[in-house]
Amino acid sequence: MSTPAGRWQVHRLVPSGTEGAPDADTATWIRAMSAAFLGGRPTPETIAAQASMMAGHRLRGVYEPGDTAPVATLRSWDARMSVPGGEVAADAVTSIGVRSTHRRRGLLRAVLVDDLAEASRAGTPVAALTSTQGSLYERFGFGLATWTRTVRVDTHAATFRDPGPTGRLRTLDPAGFAAASAPVQDRARRRHPGSMDRSAASWHALITGGVYDDSPRYAIGWSDATGRPAGYVVYGVAEGWWSTGSARIAVHDLQATTPESYRELWRHVCSLDLVGTVSWSDASVDEPLPWLLADPRAVESGPVREMLWLRILDVPAALGARRYPVTEQIVLAVDDPAGYAAGTWLLDAGDPVAPRVVTTTAEPDVALDAATLGSLYLGGVDPRVLARAGRLEERTPGAAGRLARLLAAPSAPWNGTRF
Ligand SMILES: CC(C)(COP(=O)(O)OP(=O)(O)OC[C@H]1O[C@@H](n2cnc3c(N)ncnc32)[C@H](O)[C@@H]1OP(=O)(O)O)[C@@H](O)C(=O)NCCC(=O)NCCS
Repeated sequence: MSTPAGRWQVHRLVPSGTEGAPDADTATWIRAMSAAFLGGRPTPETIAAQASMMAGHRLRGVYEPGDTAPVATLRSWDARMSVPGGEVAADAVTSIGVRSTHRRRGLLRAVLVDDLAEASRAGTPVAALTSTQGSLYERFGFGLATWTRTVRVDTHAATFRDPGPTGRLRTLDPAGFAAASAPVQDRARRRHPGSMDRSAASWHALITGGVYDDSPRYAIGWSDATGRPAGYVVYGVAEGWWSTGSARIAVHDLQATTPESYRELWRHVCSLDLVGTVSWSDASVDEPLPWLLADPRAVESGPVREMLWLRILDVPAALGARRYPVTEQIVLAVDDPAGYAAGTWLLDAGDPVAPRVVTTTAEPDVALDAATLGSLYLGGVDPRVLARAGRLEERTPGAAGRLARLLAAPSAPWNGTRF
């Protein structure tokens, strides 16, 4: 694809390598991406480690004639994302970086538009990304759909209400951590709309800290009374105990398939010797933790922060992949200059296991744009709030309230994995 200026071409790379060494184009791409994110010059070992985690991913680069290093980068892969009552295939997009000398010439636009077009051709219903800035992606039809918040526990004040466990904790070996934990995460994430499966790169970064954090990480698993793995927690030391006598532990992920597993993993990190504080910066906004404790004030909640931006590429496939808590029909008029979500759509949730989403000539109940539809998709924001903000037009009185009941999610949408 040509960029608007017509000077550059978007090229697609398939990362490959032999005996642990990435091919030259992939290595150059990684260096360019790292520089765009002010990441410094990665070592050959770092490049090899990153490249090995990109197997099956799609790399994009924009190149100037005569230069082997790209001036713009983007990486994407096929992910699975939980939605209320099911899951959907998602084009996970990351590593969008433009060389500092080439910014504001349309290169972000060129690589992203190219990626979205390919995802649409492949029949992927949604695209998902996390962003360094809040004002970048709405123009491409992405809407903010999940949030996280920091929780901090004063471990000396944290007394757990319920009696001790009937299952078992064990230390997980970093080498086998991903293989052992993927099935657990796969079950746990079904409880949270917006939660995504982890790529190999993401598992590696979780257990090693990736390229930005080389401090040790610890992984603890919980198995229920029958011996079935039911959760895990990964944490590291954010502040050592030696200066204050009381360390701060940072949780990097905690996934639980049962309430008992959730409670026991938290009990474990809150009972570590030499630790005074446990914090988790990407916890869910509806974290049940305070309800486990005799004194909920032992948990301090920090500000809510944005996480996942969603772009609906195929309205029938995306809306048809989730389930709805009420039998309701509604007609949505979606404005989308890029075309993917544009149209007037009947969402008919009369059959609880087979919602029908078809184009219609009926008068719309609600009019909205593609980014707003992305924000509403997982049920994380009330359409009535968006109507008050002028982001959604109620054409039939009370339609925003009907839409709110239709799209309501069983828990606050949450994706704890930045990518
Ligand atoms: C952010 C970044 C990718 C933008 O790349 P770019 O090539 O300059 O962007 P483009 O020229 O294609 O701009 C596309 C649109 O986004 C807008 N835009 C670009 N950067 C913006 C910014 N920082 N804030 C707000 N809008 C921005 C442009 O004005 C343009 O808008 P328009 O098409 O509606 O007129 C680039 O500055 C960069 O690499 N930054 C450091 C790494 C980073 O933060 N990457 C984003 C990862 S989520």
